[in-house]
Parts: sequence; structure tokens; C-alpha cells
Amino acid sequence: MTAPTDLSLPAHLAVVIPVFREAANVAPLVARLHAALAGIAWEAVFVDDDSPDGTAAAVRAIAATDPRIRCIRRIGRRGLASACIEGMLSVSAPFVAVMDGDLQHDEAILPAMLAAVERGADIAIGSRHVEGGAAQGGFSAARGALSDAGTRLAQALLPAPVADPMSGFFLLRRDLVEQVAPRLTGRGFKILLDILLTAPRGLQVAEIPYAFRAREHGASKLDATVLLEFAGLLLDKATGGVVPLRFLAFAAVGGFGVLVHMAALAVLVGLGGLGFAAAQWGATLVAMTANFVLNNRITYRDARLRGAALWRGLVLFYLVCGVGAAANVGIAGLLVRDGVLAWGLAGAAGALITVVWNYAVSATLIWRAR
Ligand code: GDD
Ligand code: MN
Repeated sequence: MTAPTDLSLPAHLAVVIPVFREAANVAPLVARLHAALAGIAWEAVFVDDDSPDGTAAAVRAIAATDPRIRCIRRIGRRGLASACIEGMLSVSAPFVAVMDGDLQHDEAILPAMLAAVERGADIAIGSRHVEGGAAQGGFSAARGALSDAGTRLAQALLPAPVADPMSGFFLLRRDLVEQVAPRLTGRGFKILLDILLTAPRGLQVAEIPYAFRAREHGASKLDATVLLEFAGLLLDKATGGVVPLRFLAFAAVGGFGVLVHMAALAVLVGLGGLGFAAAQWGATLVAMTANFVLNNRITYRDARLRGAALWRGLVLFYLVCGVGAAANVGIAGLLVRDGVLAWGLAGAAGALITVVWNYAVSATLIWRAR
């Protein structure tokens, strides 16, 4: 049994814990950290995205009597990876760990992870896929298969072999965090992979086995959009980040909107009674609405609008796209009239200008970062 550490000492290890709807898990996790980290000067920073279940209040209730515990409450933001980054950048301890707040990660290996990095490893990973580790407990069969597929994909991009690059449980020196932070993608769930793909080559990685536990309270937040964000992260890192991910998502949504437009137009023309112009207007409205909803859920998931802001955003989006469409027609018309381009190229140039305009203006006016 080690002696309790002096609370007047600055933290040697900061544990960053992203949480969303984890109110029931906070107190048990803090109790487990106290048991696992006895003898180490540690602190824990919970990063909550304004969970409706009172997660932040649960952390504050403990922080009122436990100086090791802190809470960052983010409003109007969502995202596991970005929460981890914000938490890691908020601490001053020389060593930083990241672990889930749902008790699925085994806190008992934190001292071994710390020792590995103190001995010279750049990063220690809590690993399900090395000798002694186990993944079965934590996931359903389907989720396990998905995780394995993601792991293989990730491993293809990694410069050196890592058995569990999909882990959300790791520990590293704070100066490495600060070095890579400006270049992290910061989207989606895979913050460790983001760090591994961003850090300079030749990282010394230590994998410490642990058994991934089943979740007892609350539910996983992984959904289809998180999978899209994973694909986006790999694409971003594989291409060296040449094209902004958000622009790609916005353009893909726009491309899908063309299909929606044609389908709606077919239905409206098929109904009969409406003239072509009226049907075209109707289809435009349907496509713009579909694009708005998809951009709000996918492209700008981390800044998703709700309630009154959602309706305000929709009206603004109609206006922005309306101006974009007018510019498209006007510019393409001029290019053709002046004989600068043939109609095909002129049309494409007009469309490109519209996408860039819609993207730039809606990013600053509608989903502006808060
Ligand atoms: N602040 C914040 N914002 N926290 C979030 C968000 C978010 O948008 N989404 C999820 N979290 C928190 C959860 O509350 C939990 O503490 C942790 O992040 C992991 O989320 P889960 O929803 O439990 O994910 P999972 O169990 O499907 O997958 C996790 O475990 C894998 C295995 O280690 C993730 O951490 C993966 O990254 C990890 O690889
Ligand atoms: Mn989990």
C-alpha cells in the first residue's frame, strides 16, 4: 500500500475523460481512479458536451470535495476526438492519459502505461489485441467485426505496426500532444489513430494488454455518422489534408442533392397539373431542404443546429443557395455569351463556383464555429 500523495503537489499525470450522457458512470470511475493511482500525483479532467442527463453536474458534485477532479463543459459542440484534444490541451501535467468515461477501459493498467512512457516510450496504448488482452467482453459480434475491419484499414496507413490503433485508451508525454495538436484532424471517434497518423515517423509505441469490459450504464454513441467520420479521417491523413474534409462532405451532400432534385422533379412532373417551371421550383426547394438536413447531421455534426437555430439556419440556407444559384446561372451565361467557354465547361464552372460559394458562406454564416 502506497502512502496517499500530497495534494499540494502539481499533477504528474492528467487523465482526460470524454463524456457524453455518462452521469451514472462518473462516481464509480473516480473511485476506481483513486484506487488505481494511489501513490501518483494525478488529476482527472472530464470533458462533457453539455449532456442532458446531468453528467457535468455529477462531476462538479465530486469536484466540490475532491481537488483532483475538474470538468470542462462545452456548449453547442459535439465530438469525442475534439473533446479529448481540448482536455489534453487544458492540462499542465507532464504525462497525459485519455480513457473512456463508461468504465469499459481498465484503469488498473494506468501505472504500467505511465511507467512505459517514463522509461522512454513515446506513447503507451491500452491494447485489446496483444497477448493478455481481450476484446470480446465489450462489443457485440457485429460491432467486433466492424472494429476489426477498421483496424485492418488503419494498419494499412500506419508507418509501423500497432495491434490496437482503434483503442481510445492511451498515455503520452504532454509535449508530444502539443507538438501534434495543430495538425490533428479532430473529427470522429479515433483520436489515437489521428495522433499516430500525425506524429513524426519512428514513434516508440508500447502496448499494454487489458480486457475491454462490457458497458453497464448508458449506451454507446457510435452511429453511422461516426463511421463516415472514420472514413474522412483516413482520407484526410492519406491525402496529407490537401482538401478540407468539410468541403468534401459538403460537395458530396451537394452531389446527392442533385439526385434528390431529379427524383422530386420526376414526381412533380408526373403528378401533372404543375407547369415545368413550378415543378422545377418545387424540386429545388426539396433538394435544398434535404441538403440542409444532411449538412446539419453530417458535415456540421459537431456544430449541429437544433430548435429555433435550426429554423433560422434553414431560412438562411435557402437565401445563401438562392444567391449561389443566381451566380451560377449568371456566370455561366456570361462565359457562353462572350464565347469564353463552350456550354458544358461554362456550366461546370458555374456549378463549381456555386458549391464553393455555398460552402464558404454557409460555413461562416450558418454553422459558424462557436
Ligand atoms: N465529450 C464527448 N462528446 N464525449 C463523447 C462523445 C461526444 O460527442 N461521444 C462519445 N463520448 C464519450 C462517451 O461518453 C464515452 O465516455 C467515450 O466517449 C467512448 O464512447 P462510447 O460511445 O462508449 O464508444 P464505444 O464504446 O463504442 O467505443 C469506444 O471504445 C473503443 C475501444 O477502446 C471509443 O472510445 C473508441 O474510440 C474506442 O476505440
Ligand atoms: Mn464505450
